[in-house]
Amino acid sequence: MSAILPPSQRVWWKQPLDRVELLWIVIALVWCLIMFFMMPYWHLYGQQNLANEAYREKPENYARKAEEVIAKYKVREEGGDLKVPVVHPPAGSDVYLIAQLWRWYPILELEAGKSYRVHLMSMDWLHGFSLQPENINIQVHPGYDHVVTLTPTAPGTYSIFCNEYCGINHHTMASKLYVVK
Ligand code: CUA
Repeated sequence: MSAILPPSQRVWWKQPLDRVELLWIVIALVWCLIMFFMMPYWHLYGQQNLANEAYREKPENYARKAEEVIAKYKVREEGGDLKVPVVHPPAGSDVYLIAQLWRWYPILELEAGKSYRVHLMSMDWLHGFSLQPENINIQVHPGYDHVVTLTPTAPGTYSIFCNEYCGINHHTMASKLYVVK
């Protein structure tokens, strides 16, 4: 029997199951079940699984909360004339990252080993939060405050890219995240 030519007997589903075919069906089923049970397993024991919450929110309210945190915990400015504030919030606090055409605002500076509630929201349309090289990817929607409880493990300078195409300057929508000791 060939996989390319039509079956010699037109009513092929009445033929008995071949042993090899049965073997592959069993292998595929077992693999499906392994992958299925890996999902809760990785959520409990994986190092990169995010505990998410999401709330409806108006952009103006979200921007106001972000500005409050920036005003309180700004430590310096970066980006030359752009003057992007760098925010160093206390451990355990709520920190806000604004996604908008075409920037991330502000720059966050977090401490390794401390937990933060990092909020993400778009001010206009869909963006994608991509933290590299950790490869953590989260869709950032307008109208939804997406909260991730995050504990950075290693100090360093991480990159944030937008990984949802959001228009002509999508490729310039990049920023940094500092993790300090
Ligand atoms: Cu924002 Cu692409």
